[in-house]
Amino acid sequence: MSNIAGKVVILTGASSGIGEATAKVLASKGAKLVLAARREERLVQLQKEIQNNGGHAIVKPTDVTSQTQMEDLAEYALNEFGKIDVLINNAGIMPQAFLFKKKIDEWDTMIDVNIKGVLYAIAAVLPSMREQKSGHILNLSSVAGHNIYPGGTVYCGTKHAVTAISEGLRQEEAMSGTNIRVTNISPGAVSSELLETTSDPESKAGLDEFYKSAIDADNIARAIAFAIEQPSDVAINEMIIRPTVQVG
Ligand SMILES: NC(=O)c1ccc[n+]([C@@H]2O[C@H](COP(=O)([O-])OP(=O)(O)OC[C@H]3O[C@@H](n4cnc5c(N)ncnc54)[C@H](OP(=O)(O)O)[C@@H]3O)[C@@H](O)[C@H]2O)c1
Repeated sequence: MSNIAGKVVILTGASSGIGEATAKVLASKGAKLVLAARREERLVQLQKEIQNNGGHAIVKPTDVTSQTQMEDLAEYALNEFGKIDVLINNAGIMPQAFLFKKKIDEWDTMIDVNIKGVLYAIAAVLPSMREQKSGHILNLSSVAGHNIYPGGTVYCGTKHAVTAISEGLRQEEAMSGTNIRVTNISPGAVSSELLETTSDPESKAGLDEFYKSAIDADNIARAIAFAIEQPSDVAINEMIIRPTVQVG
């Protein structure tokens, strides 16, 4: 039996792209999914698809930038399923532009979603995971969490923060003996709706060109499943998954 079967998984950003693909893969392996994102109708559609295939999923519309809503999400999972085994911090946005364009609202939102959203989710699940002395937190960083490129300065900053948060959390839990595993997932170009969050035409044109070699979200979903299904004393801490032809 898969080491995923029966695990309760909170998945943010489940309404499209990598999140949606991950929900389907994990549900097919017997996970109990708690699907979170802002677009409820997309979540309900995904829930129906999972249920029609014999899987388990519940839906909780959630904005990750709200600490209250993140606490409510964790409470909902605990009330419905009695435990939280896995948190996948997947929600994210990528509005890219050179700094001189002063897209300050986009910087603020990116920091709120990509950094604060991840922290709020960790804060919401850590108490119950620590109490049960088990758990797994996976954070979607990016190749941009390891490299820096022009136009992606703020996005790279947020994803470097995610990489740092993953490693810091890993060390804190390892030294505390809580048996909580941490995995930092760093995809390269993946086909999804992410590019639509870039409003700057110049950056969008560059991204459209770069993403011609993008791989399907399903490839990241399988990597996430691989990390989760390892034995509980094995932690895959870092995965970088690029299209074979991606250079940077
Ligand atoms: N695609 C790539 O090439 C790539 C590469 C490296 C890393 N990543 C990372 O992978 C993750 C998933 O991205 P994706 O490619 O699958 O993009 P996507 O298709 O645009 O999905 C992003 C998800 O985040 C959710 N989201 C955005 N803002 C939110 C908020 N305030 N509250 C709750 N949910 C929110 C969206 O749902 P709602 O709009 O319904 O809320 C959506 O489900 C992101 O963290 C991204 O940075 C992607």
